[in-house]
Amino acid sequence: MPRYLLPALLALGLPAQAAQIAISHRGASAYAPEHTFNAYDLAIEQDTDMLECDLFLTKDEVPVCIHDETIDRTSDGSGRVDSFTLAELRQFDFGSWFNEANPTLAKPEYVGARIVPFEEQLDCYLRVNPRMRFHVETKDSAGGRAEQVMVDLLTRKGLIATGDLASGNVQSSTIVLQSFDASSLERMRALAPSIPTGFLFSVPDQTTLPWLLTGRGPGYIDFYIPNSALLLLYPLAVTAFHANGHDVQTWTVNDSAQMNLMLALGVDGIFTNNTDLLRAAIDARGGGTTLEERGNPASFEHGCP
Ligand code: G3P
Ligand code: CA
Repeated sequence: MPRYLLPALLALGLPAQAAQIAISHRGASAYAPEHTFNAYDLAIEQDTDMLECDLFLTKDEVPVCIHDETIDRTSDGSGRVDSFTLAELRQFDFGSWFNEANPTLAKPEYVGARIVPFEEQLDCYLRVNPRMRFHVETKDSAGGRAEQVMVDLLTRKGLIATGDLASGNVQSSTIVLQSFDASSLERMRALAPSIPTGFLFSVPDQTTLPWLLTGRGPGYIDFYIPNSALLLLYPLAVTAFHANGHDVQTWTVNDSAQMNLMLALGVDGIFTNNTDLLRAAIDARGGGTTLEERGNPASFEHGCP
């Protein structure tokens, strides 16, 4: 019997699995410059379930969506994100690098794309689709300030109460938090207990190996996000986590064969740069959210209305 069939057989005795969701990794970043309105708009067009934001604080403590700690790779500027105010960061072009790196995908409208503050990501896409959901990753806690600033922002916007931990539902909260840094999740749990927390990892070490084998970890972690290579090594971890009431998501899966394999293992969500491929793979299996649950409009005004 192929070893990847075993988790599916073991799962037969468990409660029905939640819908499998598509998480657009930095937006639809295979086709448009990552973490720009272009990439997020395209992810909505490709019918995503969630938008990701890799979160850093600017010098004036504004949370912005950017993957690296510097702006060097994805803009025409140079320097650490936290060495610039938001006003200064808005001067840089976060789109042209993509056209230069991907000539066959280049588009004139990507030139001059601006950095996206997390608050604008929220405002824009909740306006486009009130059911849109956001997967936020603290990249640098900045001594604990990142979690506090995020909670202050979410409180101001009335989004803390939408956390649905009471029903154990990572799948319905408007906001979920992910991090490679377990202490960031622990801080978030103390500040905002209703926001679901997910732990990112890729290595089976002294800490994470017992979690993979037993499906249990610290109480402040609600769901687990091993990368796909790790799940191939420990496919039974999906069943173990599910047996203990924890969802499992995985990253970053960009080809259809690997998507199908991860979906067959029973993961509850996949991060992808290729939202269109993942939507097709989930739809073909029939285990995803419904069109109504996703709520993405057929057409909408692009570029943050
Ligand atoms: O958040 C899932 C995945 O994005 C983690 O890796 O480096 O792309 O943030 P990274
Ligand atoms: Ca990330």
